[in-house]
Amino acid sequence: MHNGRRWSRTRRAFMASLLTLPALRSRAGADESTTPSSVFRRAAPPIASANDVLSIMDFEPLARAALPPAHFGYIATGADDDQTVVRNHEAFSQYEIRAHRFNDVNRIDTMRTVLGKTWNSPIYLSAVSAMRAFHADAELAVARAAHTRSTQLMLSTGASTAAESVQEACGAPIWQQLYPTDVWAVTEGIIRRAQNYGCSAIVLTVDSRGTRNNETLKRAMQVDNRRCLDCHPGNSHDMWRRGPAFAGLDVSRVTTLAPFDQTVRFLDRVRAVTKVRLLIKGIVTGEDAAVAVAQGADGVIVSNHGGRNEETLRASIDCLPEVVAAVRGRVPVFFDGGIRRGTDVFKALALGATAVGVGRPQAWGLAAFGQPGVEAVLDILNRELTTVMRQVGTPSLTTIKRELLVRAARLPA
Ligand code: FNR
Repeated sequence: MHNGRRWSRTRRAFMASLLTLPALRSRAGADESTTPSSVFRRAAPPIASANDVLSIMDFEPLARAALPPAHFGYIATGADDDQTVVRNHEAFSQYEIRAHRFNDVNRIDTMRTVLGKTWNSPIYLSAVSAMRAFHADAELAVARAAHTRSTQLMLSTGASTAAESVQEACGAPIWQQLYPTDVWAVTEGIIRRAQNYGCSAIVLTVDSRGTRNNETLKRAMQVDNRRCLDCHPGNSHDMWRRGPAFAGLDVSRVTTLAPFDQTVRFLDRVRAVTKVRLLIKGIVTGEDAAVAVAQGADGVIVSNHGGRNEETLRASIDCLPEVVAAVRGRVPVFFDGGIRRGTDVFKALALGATAVGVGRPQAWGLAAFGQPGVEAVLDILNRELTTVMRQVGTPSLTTIKRELLVRAARLPA
């Protein structure tokens, strides 16, 4: 894997070109004269360590600077015009929080029981593939951060490190995310291997079928002048051709990450061979949530894959209420997409999420600082969550209720 330092000469030109891409415009594209820092006479000192980072979005430009173009583009990309990525985060601002003043908030408790386990925080690390593209320590750095912060880790099928080593570094059972592929023997092989190494859940991702138009990634690859073939033999980025999760499995007939006929029957088949908990990731409607529960899912994950697969323009947080309503408390409802602040976590919990996952923030933290970067991402989000809980008068997660949110009055209903 290439070292980011080797590409510093091309980085400046690349960064300028990236600012034309919607998903990459967020911080670096802001007009300097209008940023809050412009009110100060002195420029802020350079960020030298993860401890200097103030908020999650500050990691994004650091990751951009640390990575070669195509690898940063892989994190940033959405589908088509990246508008769903943008909306995933912006939609949180449509919810305002109603703060109460007369509650005892001496003690703030962020503990939650999830599938029979006690978590210190309702925040987990969602699946992010190919982490060696972001840092030499890759998934091991993330697993060590998960260990020091007692955080649940979901490992991608496309991980660049063998799951057994990741679980060992994590020191606790991880969740194995599953891209089933269109060959059943491969699907079964991944599940059996994960159960053998001791994962506590299989997370079947159901939102990734066929091709997707990751235009921002494609543009980033166009301006990346490295020899991609050195790391991607045959110019294939298909994870089943290189991922450790597929080692020892016959992938010669695999053509896609999921069968096109991923019907109820397919869910039944996966359920039948899954002896641990089965979570279904990528649910965005109440109807599908009801199907997942009826087929025996132990939990559903509201997610549009961080806006990377299809440009629906529907923010993930806007999908949460109908899923919670359809599930009717029978299984936990997890959530991911656009979480960048503790207040975002708070709002998702208020709308009924049991716990929330982060994708890009952990990749940014990893790219910028390795393990300490991922730890800082978790620390910042947890600190901000505790802060908003105290301010709003909610001493425990169970006191965070739907009534504490209102839709912003300045926007049309
Ligand atoms: C992902 N995501 C993802 N999801 C999944 O089920 N399997 C996977 O292998 C991956 N890989 C992956 C790579 C990268 C670079 C990103 C950014 C995301 C999606 C991820 O688990 C999560 O659903 C979203 O990232 C959540 O949105 P945010 O937090 O990125 O806004």
